[in-house]
Amino acid sequence: MRNVENKVVIITGASSGIGEATAKTLAENGAKVVLSARREDRLATLAGEIGGNAAWLKSDVTSLEDMQALVKLAKEKFGKVDAVFANAGIMPGGNMSEQKAEDWMGMVEVNIKGVLNVMAAVLPEFIAQKRGHIAVTSSAAALRSVPGNAVYCGTKHFVRAMLDSFRMEAAAEGTNIHATTIYPGAVKTELLNTIAPSETKAMVEKFYEEAGLTPDVIANAVLYAISQPDHVNVSDLVVRPSKEA
Ligand SMILES: NC(=O)c1ccc[n+]([C@@H]2O[C@H](COP(=O)([O-])OP(=O)(O)OC[C@H]3O[C@@H](n4cnc5c(N)ncnc54)[C@H](OP(=O)(O)O)[C@@H]3O)[C@@H](O)[C@H]2O)c1
Repeated sequence: MRNVENKVVIITGASSGIGEATAKTLAENGAKVVLSARREDRLATLAGEIGGNAAWLKSDVTSLEDMQALVKLAKEKFGKVDAVFANAGIMPGGNMSEQKAEDWMGMVEVNIKGVLNVMAAVLPEFIAQKRGHIAVTSSAAALRSVPGNAVYCGTKHFVRAMLDSFRMEAAAEGTNIHATTIYPGAVKTELLNTIAPSETKAMVEKFYEEAGLTPDVIANAVLYAISQPDHVNVSDLVVRPSKEA
């Protein structure tokens, strides 16, 4: 039996792709899920499909207040928070020479500050209850930088470095907070939608279409990490399509 039954899990970026698939997979395995994203129609539909074991809040990861409201909702609706999957992210792409400073700052806001806002919101709970699990979606781009996506690679390296240090701190402090970094390769989601049309984008889209994983593959990795017994911390999971170099 999967050890996620009745666990309360907050999921950011739950309105599509990896977050949506993870919400379904965790709920199918008995977890209670608290869904976060900005597109409330998508969240409402997903929560409707899952039923009584789902709650949702239109919320933006760039707002600490929104993330605190999410934790409050989880406690009001389900009485506790056991785990959080900080998954929301954006990837507008482009070479640095294109000087799209607004895109760079947007990625810092969502991919870096968004993760920190989630952590700032849940840590008081997890430290007080001496228990908790923080899983974050980094990327294969955190293990090997690629051209055409420098700032995105940087944000995902940040997640890797920060969460690894955090895991060591938690182990040393005895707070019993687990930390998991997920590194997906190509996954067929809406992530490429915000990249401006270009020859490179077309090539990437073709590869994703031919070889990309479906998001449920990553959802199963999250389920694996969150369902471990208390004395096991799955710290890093790299999941790529077999055709990805
Ligand atoms: N797809 C891949 O190949 C791949 C590979 C490696 C890593 N990843 C990572 O996987 C994560 C999920 O992406 P995905 O592939 O599933 O793409 P996706 O389908 O585009 O999902 C991104 C999610 O993030 C949410 N989001 C974006 N900005 C937000 C904000 N400011 N506040 C709250 N939510 C926000 C979106 O919801 P709203 O727009 O409704 O707010 C959406 O639910 C990202 O961190 C991404 O970097 C993806």
